[in-house]
Amino acid sequence: MTLTHLTSTLATLSYFIPPPNGEKAYQHTFADPLTGERERNYTRADHAVVIENLRGKEDEEATLDTAGFQFFKRPAKYTTFDNGDEEIVKEYYPESIELIKELTGASRVVLFDHTIRRRRPGQSDDSPSKRQPASQVHVDQTTAASIARVHRHLPASDVAALLKRRFQIINLWRPISHAALDWPLAVCDYRSVDPEKDVVPVTLVYPDRKGETLGVKYNPVHRWRYLRGITPDEFVLIKCFDSVQDGSVAVFTPHTAFEDPTTPKDAPLRESIELRALVFYD
Ligand code: OGA
Ligand code: FE
Repeated sequence: MTLTHLTSTLATLSYFIPPPNGEKAYQHTFADPLTGERERNYTRADHAVVIENLRGKEDEEATLDTAGFQFFKRPAKYTTFDNGDEEIVKEYYPESIELIKELTGASRVVLFDHTIRRRRPGQSDDSPSKRQPASQVHVDQTTAASIARVHRHLPASDVAALLKRRFQIINLWRPISHAALDWPLAVCDYRSVDPEKDVVPVTLVYPDRKGETLGVKYNPVHRWRYLRGITPDEFVLIKCFDSVQDGSVAVFTPHTAFEDPTTPKDAPLRESIELRALVFYD
């Protein structure tokens, strides 16, 4: 058995602790020029968790509808990612839109954002052009923020009809250049989450507007998974939101980067790209 097939690892994850006094939680997306910190009114706590390696059983265990996430193997045609955002939008977006349509059965897919992450040990800079792995358990959008994204990125004349049918927000997360053994991404099975008790809306304060994410509180029953040594030919679809909320399908997937104690010391630093997609169904 190779290391790639280790069945699980033990890691420390950083969970959300709500602010005292029942205040609404908030976090700035930009650093304070004086402190270099991103202002926030909540704290976090580390918890040790077991993270199961899905390598070899990707297909049996987890789908977008059951767990909220799904791993696939499909090399990208565009693999450069070094020549700036414009080229990524021109070269990587179209094939990814087709891929998401094919894998989900969606009729319309709109990519509204992407983030390249490269780990830079010892550097605290995490500005938009230098994003590092995100090491707090979170969900990217609340229901309100997801609906706001439809208004923001789709033609006004289409919005009312689109919001009457099923839609989702799905991230397509893929390593760049080499396998992501270093600081991989862990995803939490929705079936182990209590959506009433475990998640709390957090206002995300941008310089010019506000968004809303979900902070995730610790719950010992959370079931964590990853794909050890995930390669650039593989990717994970992470469902951040589903408009179907009747209990029949996973609605969101808590996720976080984590330091894997089984990572070989000479593994190259993590590099990845995640696309954010609005996914609509007829
Ligand atoms: C994401 C995300 C964190 C990371 O894809 O939404 O939070 O470290 N990624 O890649
Ligand atoms: Fe995220």
